[in-house]
Amino acid sequence: MKSYFTDPPRIRLLYWPLLLLVVLTSLAVAAREVFEFEYPDYFPPPAYDFSTNPLDSAGIELGRRLFYDEILSADTTVSCASCHSPYSAFAHTDHDLSHGIHDRIGTRNAPALFNLAWSTSFHRDGAHHHLDLQALAPLSHPDEMGSSINEAVGRLNDHPLYPARFALAFGDSLVTGERMLKALAQFQLTLVSAGAKYDRVRTGKDTFTVQEAKGYSLFKENCNSCHTEPIFTNNQFEHSGLEVDTTLNDFGRMMITTLPSDSLRFKVPSLRNLSYTHPYMHDGRFRKLRDVLKNYANQLDNPFPLSSNDQSDLIAFLLTLDDPDFVFNRKHGFPR
Ligand code: HEC
Ligand code: HEC
Repeated sequence: MKSYFTDPPRIRLLYWPLLLLVVLTSLAVAAREVFEFEYPDYFPPPAYDFSTNPLDSAGIELGRRLFYDEILSADTTVSCASCHSPYSAFAHTDHDLSHGIHDRIGTRNAPALFNLAWSTSFHRDGAHHHLDLQALAPLSHPDEMGSSINEAVGRLNDHPLYPARFALAFGDSLVTGERMLKALAQFQLTLVSAGAKYDRVRTGKDTFTVQEAKGYSLFKENCNSCHTEPIFTNNQFEHSGLEVDTTLNDFGRMMITTLPSDSLRFKVPSLRNLSYTHPYMHDGRFRKLRDVLKNYANQLDNPFPLSSNDQSDLIAFLLTLDDPDFVFNRKHGFPR
């Protein structure tokens, strides 16, 4: 082989991209860092099988970029974060029903996203079983991102930066649908909310006020069977006593299983971060916690009388589940 100095200038130009590729690949290998998934010892073991998609800092960072990037939607106006905003604990700020491309309105309230590693099903009716596959739904839904996996992969491949980011995360610059979905899942798995006052009380670093403690007792008596601590969901589909909304006609779990006994059963949402995730319920029909509690006092299968004082005590307890450190954690925010 001739040396750099004797090669004609056109060939010499080819050396630089090659050299860059070698440097980038070695950087990629060096930068791959295993990410330690941490959670409190009073949390149950996660349901997600991390061996199928090991967390790594480059994968998480790639997933974060994808989550906040409008490039994934048909007309590049909508990102995952458009409906799942960090400041609303990844629910949809102030929208009862979701808003997608071309201002199209969906039929459900976008749920908050955190502690997803402990979820055994996804969507209000449990239509999806695996976090890695869930993102296919909003990507291709005509009222959400209106795109497709092939379109998204094609755009990422043609992007000046994404192939190198995929190389950092996965060892080579090939953009595939599977890698995109795995990176999105990796980022979402890092959204662990476990820093509320409730958690500090559990670890002996804080104490409940008298009112919060009363609320906690009421909670354990009346709510914990469905909103089971410390994740605050039993991962089941339950009746919350709501009547069907006759415009939306959403019968929840029954729409998946077709079993009449599943009519109006919805996935039990976590009660962490309620100050940030309103409006509430699958269709966002309640704007205030007090309205949710009034519904419970009247309509649950086994209605329990909750006096106005009880409701205030319960709300005081529920507010100890707010985790502002999670909501304002810059590691989960818009990537700079
Ligand atoms: C147009 C608004 C919108 C966009 C954009 C959107 N979502 Fe959602 N998301 C929703 C709604 C609404 C639901 C509930 C769907 C249902 O119950 O049928 C949901 C549900 C979810 C869930 C299930 C949560 C649970 O606990 O059951 C996850 C995870 C999720 N979205 C992640 C994403 C990701 C990742 C993206 C980007 C690829 C995305 N979403 C884009 C509105 C949106
Ligand atoms: C039988 C099971 C069950 C019991 C008991 C129960 N809930 Fe719920 N809760 C649900 C279900 C299911 C939903 C979601 C309903 C929907 O999406 O329409 C829900 C929703 C909520 C929400 C709205 C959360 C959100 O993000 O939209 C709050 C707040 C709430 N429950 C508080 C309580 C409190 C406080 C108690 C005790 C007084 C309680 N729940 C008892 C099943 C239950």
